[in-house]
Amino acid sequence: MSEPLVLGIETSCDETGIGIVRGRTLLSNTIASSMDEHARYGGVIPEVAARAHLEALQPSIEAALAEAQVQLDDLDAIAVTSGPGLAGALMVGVGAAKGLAVSLGKPLYAVNHLVGHIAADIVTPDSDPLEYPTIALLVSGGHTSLLHVRDLTTDVELLGETMDDAAGEAFDKVARLLSLPYPGGPEIDRAAADGDPKAIRFPRGLSKAPDMEKHRYDFSFSGLKTAVARWVERCEASGEQVPVADVAASFREAVVDVLVTKALAACADLGVPRLLLGGGVIANKRLRDVAIERAAAAGVTVRIPPLSLCTDNGAMIAALAAELISSGRRPSTLAFGADSTLPV
Ligand code: KG4
Ligand code: ZN
Repeated sequence: MSEPLVLGIETSCDETGIGIVRGRTLLSNTIASSMDEHARYGGVIPEVAARAHLEALQPSIEAALAEAQVQLDDLDAIAVTSGPGLAGALMVGVGAAKGLAVSLGKPLYAVNHLVGHIAADIVTPDSDPLEYPTIALLVSGGHTSLLHVRDLTTDVELLGETMDDAAGEAFDKVARLLSLPYPGGPEIDRAAADGDPKAIRFPRGLSKAPDMEKHRYDFSFSGLKTAVARWVERCEASGEQVPVADVAASFREAVVDVLVTKALAACADLGVPRLLLGGGVIANKRLRDVAIERAAAAGVTVRIPPLSLCTDNGAMIAALAAELISSGRRPSTLAFGADSTLPV
């Protein structure tokens, strides 16, 4: 099957993503987010996310089929994220995918969410083919991972990941410290526009010896978050106004610096002149600008799919399954379940 028609289901966090691809061609990518429902809690509430997936799945599938102008019967396969992610949220997608596959008599592919993020590149309209090897930096509210991709379907290695908070989570928590609303990323970005990124030198996690030797490709944002909290507390204790713009700009600079430094260290160490970015935090223009600028200086080319394919979506899941099918991979048996810590 050279150009399989695949429907992908993504429910690992708060986005219900349904995507349809034909081989490497993107036909539809519908995303329903329960972000607004989590806003008043300042973070994603797993039970709320799971229930929202349950409600959004059927209309999202119908919308994706209509947009792609295909019928369920036309599909060659169903694909679903089986992990990593929030257990309850994953379970909703996995259950729906199994139900669809069994009732339609179609093959089912369980795929890894992180590898899916890399596959987003493949269905990016008008893009050149993804070249191997490449380093991938995936940053969202749920993960911060650095991967060495030698082949999307057979050889993806996790080089490092966050030891505590994900980068997006750090943005969300720091926004809260600064009394900015959720989600914090865009809010910090806005506040940072008027600030001086050099005003405060916040710590870069796991960047100094001996941590750097042991955790060269790992990330840690909890120390940074605590440093911001201390700063805010000190200002408040002395009756000064918190310089929100400077704190936001300095915090953002610390996150961007450590993400780009470690990604480019991986490129240099492994002799890989290509870097792929993915995940919702890529919406951050400062991150994109610094990555592009420092990568150019290091002779590394940067690829960034459009934001609708960077945030969690079903098209990347369908795209990965289409690649697996084209490479001869057999479908999953129904024995798999949601695995919140599924390794790459
Ligand atoms: O991939 P995504 O849409 O969803 C999941 O994490 O599942 O990423 C959302 C995360 C949130 O933590 C949000 O604060 C962050 O991405 N984010 C940003 C920006 N826009 C969204 N972080 C930094 N700068 C932004 N402009
Ligand atoms: Zn993701």
